[in-house]
Amino acid sequence: MATSMTAPGISDRKRRRGSEPIVMVTAYDFPFARIVDEVGVDIILVGDSVGDNVLGMENTLSVTIADIAHHTAAVARARPSALIVADMVWMSYHTTIANAVDNAAELVRAGAEAVKLEGGKNRIPVVRALLDAQIPVMGHLGLTPQSIHTMGGLRVQARDEASAKTLLEEALLLEESGCFALVLEGVPRSLAKRVTEATEIPIIGIGAGPDCDGQVLVLHDLLGLNSRHPAKFVRRYVDLASAVRDAVASYSADVRSGSFPDDEESYH
Ligand code: KIV
Repeated sequence: MATSMTAPGISDRKRRRGSEPIVMVTAYDFPFARIVDEVGVDIILVGDSVGDNVLGMENTLSVTIADIAHHTAAVARARPSALIVADMVWMSYHTTIANAVDNAAELVRAGAEAVKLEGGKNRIPVVRALLDAQIPVMGHLGLTPQSIHTMGGLRVQARDEASAKTLLEEALLLEESGCFALVLEGVPRSLAKRVTEATEIPIIGIGAGPDCDGQVLVLHDLLGLNSRHPAKFVRRYVDLASAVRDAVASYSADVRSGSFPDDEESYH
């Protein structure tokens, strides 16, 4: 069995220090957690992207802590060697610090080994409180989907120098506050490179180019399970939706023609 990943183990993994790129992928249930872990990914993210990828929601804003806890527990039952990171959902860390710690604790009790939250300098007190409660924290900057309305849509962030500088400062603040890694989403490649070079913790990119210390993708995107047009940064490795459609169509045809089940598939 592969050695289990830990947050302190991940926090060391900078490519410039000779580490292999970190592989992170989402999973929301037991079978997919088992499969991605068998392949040897480093981090499984139980993301709030469960909302639009699995639960049929418009965006991530309707996902609750109970939803993430439910899916985290399913992933944890696969007992993966990968580190399980669970997403703090919108409004689970925006009111009081005590509420944020309680919500993160619910995810840890469900099986999370770290939590991820979106945002920069406004989040520093929450990050510190979570660390004080012994909960490792992964930051998330750039295109932060929980800010869909204030960003005016899901669009590439920090394209101009002033906002790039702010993002870089916020990355350094999150690092200084004790985050063990940082997701950087939807920013120009050149900025992701700057942030990766300026930080000591690993920067895990999504739509941030190839110069980061690792990459994360939504599993349902890379498997081709989504009907929506994939974003530019998604590489679709298989068209699983077509494979499922073909399999279920064959099953339907066999049932309707009377060829399933046959005698060998019957008890005697
Ligand atoms: O919820 C999620 O899947 C995420 C990734 C896109 C980083 O936050």
